[in-house]
Amino acid sequence: MKVLVVGGGGREHAIIKKLKENKEIEKIYALPGNGGMANDAECVAIGAKDIPAIVEFAKTHDIGFAVVAPDDPLVLGAVDELQKCGIPCFGPEKKAAIIEGSKVFSKNLMKKYGIPTAAYEVFDSAEKALKYLETAPIPTVIKADGLALGKGVIIAMTRSEAADAVKTIMEDKAFGESGNQIVIEEYLEGPEVSVLSFTDGKTVVPMISSMDHKRAHDNDEGLNTGGMGTVAPNPYYTPEVAERCMKEIFLPTINAMNAEGRTFKGCLYFGLMITKNGPKVIEYNCRFGDPETQVVLPLLESDLFEIMKSVAAGTLSETEVKFSQKHACCVVMASDGYPQKYQTGFEITMPADKNIYVAGAKLDGGKLLTAGGRVLGVTETADTLENAVKKAYETVGTVHFENAYYRKDIGKKALEV
Ligand code: AMP
Ligand code: GLY
Repeated sequence: MKVLVVGGGGREHAIIKKLKENKEIEKIYALPGNGGMANDAECVAIGAKDIPAIVEFAKTHDIGFAVVAPDDPLVLGAVDELQKCGIPCFGPEKKAAIIEGSKVFSKNLMKKYGIPTAAYEVFDSAEKALKYLETAPIPTVIKADGLALGKGVIIAMTRSEAADAVKTIMEDKAFGESGNQIVIEEYLEGPEVSVLSFTDGKTVVPMISSMDHKRAHDNDEGLNTGGMGTVAPNPYYTPEVAERCMKEIFLPTINAMNAEGRTFKGCLYFGLMITKNGPKVIEYNCRFGDPETQVVLPLLESDLFEIMKSVAAGTLSETEVKFSQKHACCVVMASDGYPQKYQTGFEITMPADKNIYVAGAKLDGGKLLTAGGRVLGVTETADTLENAVKKAYETVGTVHFENAYYRKDIGKKALEV
């Protein structure tokens, strides 16, 4: 079978490498993919948001199954359009992807169905939001309603920072239409846990938990990024927490989406905070996380393609989803300066036999050159977290490109638990 994967980052590279273990798959196309995954998939220069071109490609290339990985095409309805042409897909339809596409939707869903999350108010005018902020508890959290490349959340430690955030989102339109509405919510404290799950709308199977490292610099300093590294499992996700999450969050969310006529099929990502009052939802994503996928899938012992097909067919309860008892660590190597200004175009050399997931690179005359902020992620697994971290940094030492920057403390916080 020929399989199409929409997307082009490290997450997609990890999905593709795992799919390749299935013998039924004869060929994988990545749209657009990137030069660093050219050995694993045929990369085709079609943007992940260009849905008409994606559908046309699928129709003319005998595609038997499609995996839509990034948020934008999911929220825009890529799965709906591919399914209309008879192509089975892994990923939610547009009406379910709204769980990530609109924070106002997801917060109202949680309130309606009693799913634990931060208390909040919704505003559609800057004037009303600013008035509310005059007496709101501080710190507070301001979130643009729509997708904002992971930048639409501002933690305001003072009243004036909060007011500035409202102005940036609603008046200066820093995130365009995504800022037509905002959520202002209670500031929560506690360790964060990412739980990706497979669901066909009937059964929900959590994957191994993970911990992201979002800030650019060591000790969680510097700007927020797309993620500088991950470890799995997350030590804060104890069996007791997992049980509460299943009962209070995972199943209620699946049931709530069904009750709303928005059955979710695909990977539902629960961004959780373990507060002193129990686990609460910080965010839902309608897709695999990046770089969470780069530590979760290397620990998956079952066949990813079989799982994805069963999610699409609604037979997940009959399919084995088994994770290894090992630990994984992914260290992201970025271009120095990311997430702000950085230079690209430097040659990358790296070992071929390692779990290296390439995100920002292009092929140029047979050479692999850096072409993005986050360039690649190096994942290692081991029997202990300590060894997984040690091995990951050893492998990082064998990857070279000018201007490389990476955090030196991925896994440190998890090791201290
Ligand atoms: P998001 O873009 O929704 O993943 O949010 C980015 C980060 O902001 C999260 O990973 C949290 O660290 C933080 N955050 C979001 N909502 C809250 C909240 N209500 N309280 C404290 N921190 C939050
Ligand atoms: N690593 C966070 C995300 O994928 O949204």
